[in-house]
Amino acid sequence: MAKNKLPGFATRAIHVGQEPDPLTGAVTVPIYPTSTYVQQELGKHKGYEYSRVSNPTRDRLEQNLAALERGSASRVFASGMAAINAICTTMKAGDHVVCGHDLYGGVPRLFNQVLADFGMEFTYVDTSDAANVQRAIRKNTRMVYVETPTNPLMTLSDIRAISEICHRKKVELVVDNTFMSPYFQQPIALGADMVVHSTTKFLNGHSDGLGGVVVCTKTEQAEKLAFVQKAVGAILSPFECWLVLRGVKSLAARMKEHDANGRVIAEFLDQHKKVKKVFYPGLASHPQRALARRQMTGFGSMITFETGSLSNAGKMLKKVRVCSLGESLGGVETLISHPATMTHAALGEKGRKQIGITDGMVRISVGIENVEDIVADLDQALNAI
Ligand SMILES: Cc1ncc(COP(=O)(O)O)c(C=O)c1O
Repeated sequence: MAKNKLPGFATRAIHVGQEPDPLTGAVTVPIYPTSTYVQQELGKHKGYEYSRVSNPTRDRLEQNLAALERGSASRVFASGMAAINAICTTMKAGDHVVCGHDLYGGVPRLFNQVLADFGMEFTYVDTSDAANVQRAIRKNTRMVYVETPTNPLMTLSDIRAISEICHRKKVELVVDNTFMSPYFQQPIALGADMVVHSTTKFLNGHSDGLGGVVVCTKTEQAEKLAFVQKAVGAILSPFECWLVLRGVKSLAARMKEHDANGRVIAEFLDQHKKVKKVFYPGLASHPQRALARRQMTGFGSMITFETGSLSNAGKMLKKVRVCSLGESLGGVETLISHPATMTHAALGEKGRKQIGITDGMVRISVGIENVEDIVADLDQALNAI
């Protein structure tokens, strides 16, 4: 390998922070299920005092995820929502946030029903047009918060264009990269100041643990978030850190399979007579396909499609067998869900209508099963309509 050249993505996923254990040579990172650490004498210890503050398994995961997103450091939390909340706790009453209008439903729930009561202000705009972001920034704006592609409408925002606006206005850009994973999209390289993930999804990849991460680009951000870990305490447990460390080892391989299956399923749905519309950035019909090609290196496996009505969605969802009806995404198994009654129920009918989420929409997180089995399952389920 050429000197100074960064190892490739899969190599970093498998080796950064995942070095063999110096004590035993174990090839997997040890889990340190300890609350505290013995100190040699007053003020003298091995760098660890109490596990809310730091833990060796957590340190390893934080090194690994920073390397995957090409940030300077990362901080992990008990869930994606805890990670997003941690960023917000570094702000204060009177601070203003500009955010996308079709974010994962839990995010506006946190903003409107928790943080607004502490005096923070939020403006929701369609961030697929960067000019809307520029117009919404005020004197007290501290952060622009963008999810791309969005959940569930698969709308893209131009990370580079928005980051240029943010930097001119001295506002930080935070990008939720959960849907693409760092394998297909690298927001920091496009100008983002911080990246957020629900590690619950593709990073873990096996639907067996919740978690969240904030990847930082500046020492000050990482220090503030380490303080939030210590002061607020919503940290990720050593065991769940280990699950993510294990999961990311196969991230590159899994994402290739997710993407290959995603493309086949999107084409299949697009041709199906019972499906009225498909939302997937890899389809020629997606209005932002050019942007997708520019800022992503794959299209992933998140697809939303329109069945026409709540009753149609209900009929097909009752029939699925290979696909599992359930919330969440990004696992090896295909998960299928109904945004209006599940992930986006908290928005209410009016809120959903405003951004274009209908009762007939179904969202699918295509897994890595044999694609012909997913196709056959969706076909028989759709034919129940
Ligand atoms: C895009 C996105 N961001 C954040 C979250 C929140 O993550 P968690 O469920 O781990 O708290 C979710 C959850 O579905 C999500 O889809």
